[in-house]
Amino acid sequence: MGKRAVVTGASSGIGQATAILLAAHGWDVIAVARRADRLAALEAGHGIHAVVGDVTDPDDVRRIADEVSALGPLHALVNNAGGAFGSATVEDGDPEDWRAMYEVNVLGTLRMIQALLPALRAGAREVPGDGPGDGSGDGPGDGPGHADILSITSVAGHEVYEKGAGYNAAKFAQHALMGVLRLELAGEPLRVIEIAPGMVRTEGFAITRFGGDRDAADAVYAGVEHPLVAEDIAEVVVHALELPGHVNLDLVTLRPVAQAAATKVIRRPLKPR
Ligand SMILES: NC(=O)c1ccc[n+]([C@@H]2O[C@H](COP(=O)([O-])OP(=O)(O)OC[C@H]3O[C@@H](n4cnc5c(N)ncnc54)[C@H](OP(=O)(O)O)[C@@H]3O)[C@@H](O)[C@H]2O)c1
Repeated sequence: MGKRAVVTGASSGIGQATAILLAAHGWDVIAVARRADRLAALEAGHGIHAVVGDVTDPDDVRRIADEVSALGPLHALVNNAGGAFGSATVEDGDPEDWRAMYEVNVLGTLRMIQALLPALRAGAREVPGDGPGDGSGDGPGDGPGHADILSITSVAGHEVYEKGAGYNAAKFAQHALMGVLRLELAGEPLRVIEIAPGMVRTEGFAITRFGGDRDAADAVYAGVEHPLVAEDIAEVVVHALELPGHVNLDLVTLRPVAQAAATKVIRRPLKPR
């Protein structure tokens, strides 16, 4: 038996790539999202356990937690479900978009952490040789007993940009939640890890933000040499989870080389001066 991880928002983009990479590394992966058909494909293709559910719905989160706990101790929770809805000035922003972004990015993360902390503590109580891993010290399950809570925030949780306020506010709040959690869990072998990506060209992010407008979504990445892709973020997530248990990557910011800041994106080929 390998270590067990829950990945939310695993039906596309960063969550899907993370679920697939964790499974390839020998983890037992439980994938959570609302689209059952997409999770079924993950289950069939990668041996990933699918749980259909909405992280903003308290009943769904309770059911997800029951199903996860029934499978045994948990070693990692990856809070990835989230996204941006709309791109508007503060003056014109729709409060319903703001509410929806807060619900999924912040309260979804909060609810999943609250519901799964008991299973994560059970995972952290396991010691090498007494549970998953082979005790060799170089694979998932080895090293001192610990469990991890990892959230995908964004550079939007650290720097503001015009027409980003609703998403900025939600991601700043998710960042704050993770920082407070790290303080409150100090003393337990629970790592609290924040991964904050810049521009990632994923299937869903920009098209969701622009309400299905393909031209607006494509314009986000226009001319950018090598935006990050979901697999880049998955590599960092899996690396963070597989570091020795005493090493906590508190915060990792990663961007494409063509993006020096949220507001400084180079839209031409990069070349040395
Ligand atoms: N792409 C970027 O440039 C970028 C940059 C920084 C941070 N991020 C963050 O990275 C995360 C993943 O984004 P992505 O780019 O991979 O976008 P994506 O392709 O749109 O994926 C979003 C995932 O979240 C799931 N999801 C959304 N609402 C949910 C809910 N209420 N309950 C359960 N699952 C839900 C979606 O699945 P269902 O629709 O099937 O539920 C989907 O699997 C988000 O938190 C996003 O804010 C993205």
